[in-house]
Amino acid sequence: MKAIVKKIGQKGVFVKDTDFIENLGVTIRTLYTGVCGTDREIANDALPFIRAENGNELIIGHEAIGIVEDPGDSDQFKKGDLVVPMVRRPGKCQLCKIGHQDYCIDGDFVEAGIRGKNGFMREKFRDDEKFLLKVKDKEIQEIGVLTEPTKNVMKIMETFKFLSSRVPWYCGDSTFSCKNLYIYGTGSEALLISFVFSTLGFNIFLVNRHPVSDKIQSIINGIGASFLDSSSEDYENKLSRNRPDVIIDAVGSSEILRKSVEKINNNGIIILFGTSGQLMEKNEDITGYIVDKNISIAGSVDGSKENYREAIEFISSNKNRFPFKDLISGIGSPENIDKIAKKDKDEIKYIIKW
Ligand code: BGC
Ligand code: ZN
Ligand code: ZN
Repeated sequence: MKAIVKKIGQKGVFVKDTDFIENLGVTIRTLYTGVCGTDREIANDALPFIRAENGNELIIGHEAIGIVEDPGDSDQFKKGDLVVPMVRRPGKCQLCKIGHQDYCIDGDFVEAGIRGKNGFMREKFRDDEKFLLKVKDKEIQEIGVLTEPTKNVMKIMETFKFLSSRVPWYCGDSTFSCKNLYIYGTGSEALLISFVFSTLGFNIFLVNRHPVSDKIQSIINGIGASFLDSSSEDYENKLSRNRPDVIIDAVGSSEILRKSVEKINNNGIIILFGTSGQLMEKNEDITGYIVDKNISIAGSVDGSKENYREAIEFISSNKNRFPFKDLISGIGSPENIDKIAKKDKDEIKYIIKW
């Protein structure tokens, strides 16, 4: 069977004929797998923590939806069920033991298609039922591939709710309509963040360093959000007129982030999802703002099984409200290997049909 494989330490990925690797578990036929920045970094040999499960080859892919072909010993799943597998699998720490490998203390976890476990870019795989989620709504067979990136958003939302409980946060009328949310990035993850947070009624701005395609602009307009080009002259003016209350970074550019951190309102919240290690290290002058304004900063990575469940629920119940379909800008075949390493112009989310 076909699989997309990465040789550790070597640039690029390739299609390889492989056997079943797992002997036990639920047998799943892969329907779609999504490609994200992590996969691109793997393909370009730019992800420092990539690890094979055995030897020096790793089957990549961590965003997937598939159909149960043989439930094996499982009584939770039956043939024909639509399922989404989880990326991160627990190690031995106390948090991993309670299903919170997303908050693992010692890093002793594995991640399918990323570190220490073969992933889902293959025609079929077997998996432990503990790490599978059922998708009851058959209508989301295609957009259900967005569950994995959406589960990250559900954890971001959880983090936001936790931090916003430091102080009463509402607008005097029980809503968030007076609060400005800035999302850095305009890719599929940023757009999913905007969908989920728009349900709280925020005033949303998506920011990038360059103009966006008409398609992305229309998705942003469609949810009543605005796009800001941080390279344009009036960006800082706009920022000053609509100071951020919440900043969610999905790109990891400390430069654009820094400008908005300086403008953040008191009691503001910053959630970092893109990897931006520089915010604290290089811009020490920022710490004064953070203390004086009671700013909360949190990093957020991965998500729990509950976050996956919430993601499936969110996509299913909002499939007619948000344009998930428009996020999928291209569907290709496994052989179309170049698409994994290189992002197409105007791509939002590229997925592979198996
Ligand atoms: C995945 C996360 C994972 C992270 C780091 C992301 O693309 O969505 O689940 O923890 O990569 O490996
Ligand atoms: Zn991903
Ligand atoms: Zn752990």
